[in-house]
Amino acid sequence: MQINIITIFPDLFDRVLDFGMIQQARKKDLMQVEIVDLRDFTEDKRRTVDDRPYGGGDGMVLKPEPIFLAVESLKEKAGEPQHVVLLTPQGKLFNQSLANRLSLRKNLTLICGRYEGVDQRVTDHLVDEEVSIGDFVLSGGEYAALVVVDAVSRLIPGVVAKGASVLQESFMDGLLDYPHYTRPPDFRGWQVPEVLLSGDHAEIERWRERQALELTRERRPDLLKPGKNAKDRD
Ligand code: ADE
Repeated sequence: MQINIITIFPDLFDRVLDFGMIQQARKKDLMQVEIVDLRDFTEDKRRTVDDRPYGGGDGMVLKPEPIFLAVESLKEKAGEPQHVVLLTPQGKLFNQSLANRLSLRKNLTLICGRYEGVDQRVTDHLVDEEVSIGDFVLSGGEYAALVVVDAVSRLIPGVVAKGASVLQESFMDGLLDYPHYTRPPDFRGWQVPEVLLSGDHAEIERWRERQALELTRERRPDLLKPGKNAKDRD
């Protein structure tokens, strides 16, 4: 999978792609990430990427020309259409289902917006979908793009260790995770639940299902509404 990230802060990505699942995916050549400096697609001496909003108001708006040129150059280089995603608080909410869907694509071009705004013609005529990582406003789309890359990288076949298929269907899909424990069995007097030490795999499975269900009921009852699985819908 080829992922392109268009940003005005290319240096921000310097080390962050060299760790964990993203590093694994890149090392195994299952995912390539190219960081594209939006300023490389400006045509003036000052490398201007933004301008004042028509109609007045605070802040600056990202200009359309450099963004169109950047995406068009990526399309040309790849020799095929790109799936173009704009990271913005106005987008559809990112969730596991959307991560699964994006992970099946051959390429993804992520445009990092700025919080003041991006010229609407980018959304209307260049972008396939707008995505938000949550109901809060970041100063830009860079961290949101990293969230998307991380979530997608672990879904690419071959990235996660063999046998641990992350796309695998199970009872617990769409629920919060059950609690995990490791050694020691007694830490400062706090015991690991007896059942996990029992070796009874069927009983352990039932315990985990119960825990996942109870935790979800308590913290995220919205996930349990029929046909309203917020975690899995996109
Ligand atoms: N840019 C600013 N805030 C954002 C958010 N919540 N999600 C995606 N991109 C953003």
